[in-house]
Amino acid sequence: TAVSLIGVPTDIGAGHRGASMAPEALRVANLGQRLQKLGLDVIDRGNLHGPLNPWLPPSAEGYRHLQEAIDWNREVCAAVYDELSLGRLPIMLGGDHCLAMGSISAVARHCREQGKQLRILWLDAHTDFNTASLSPSGNIHGMPVACLCGHGPAELAGLAGFTPAVTPAQFRQIGIRSVDAGEKHLVREAAIPIFDMRHIDEHGIKRTVEAALEGMGPDTHLHVSFDVDFLDPSIAPGVGTRVRGGPTYREAQLCMELIADAGKMASLDIVELNPALDKRNQTARLAVDLVESLFGKSTLIR
Ligand code: ARG
Ligand code: MN
Ligand code: MN
Ligand code: MN
Repeated sequence: TAVSLIGVPTDIGAGHRGASMAPEALRVANLGQRLQKLGLDVIDRGNLHGPLNPWLPPSAEGYRHLQEAIDWNREVCAAVYDELSLGRLPIMLGGDHCLAMGSISAVARHCREQGKQLRILWLDAHTDFNTASLSPSGNIHGMPVACLCGHGPAELAGLAGFTPAVTPAQFRQIGIRSVDAGEKHLVREAAIPIFDMRHIDEHGIKRTVEAALEGMGPDTHLHVSFDVDFLDPSIAPGVGTRVRGGPTYREAQLCMELIADAGKMASLDIVELNPALDKRNQTARLAVDLVESLFGKSTLIR
């Protein structure tokens, strides 16, 4: 497999500064070298460029930094589309989760052109299904799933070249344990398939991940959007929106191994890592361990 690392140093979508430092933190934790050791062909494309964080309050329309989010996501969308066209697997080194609008829009366009099915695995504590009128914060990192499904401003919802870029039924969300009051209504109305923490508690991580991956065919492109706040904050403190009660180290490892076994992952976001809130880069190092498992590292084979 050929993978391309794409740094997206932005925190314009978040409510805390610092996720913009994460691409470098992941490099310092040796992400590229560790993937190379697994036998992958790795190219680090360096970082994309976009507007700095003006750190303004939300506008009257209910978005914080909307124009910045549009500018960044145009860059992301073009870069991801180019890598997919080259037959490479793009890995976003986020950056806050708003970048998934650009990455998944590019993937949706690629899949449409190639006649592939698209499945999106969203590993997160949050559903990120807010709209400007529902969001309590105005932070755009809480809106990418809604936007991708067509609930959002045209400049973001239309990045793929068609709207909606994807449908709720293409998502599988795992690890959910924080949904805002207004967001709950829209999530239920859209019927987005969610495996929340209660589901993991009752059925175990293995059956949960298997259910989320069920029904993929030979032509399925699996996009994994890995929000690091998916993990329990006791093992992953370096994120801006910590929610207790997430997957443990062992559950997260098995989750990644099961995704690797399915053999369908063709693009990946690593988002919301915040080195400013981390201790000695431990959350970046944990993320790298988990991404190795996502690419098939196993104790006895390689
Ligand atoms: N639901 C909250 C909001 O919309 C938090 C979103 C957190 N999203 C994330 N990608 N960490 O403001
Ligand atoms: Mn392809
Ligand atoms: Mn989250
Ligand atoms: Mn998220």
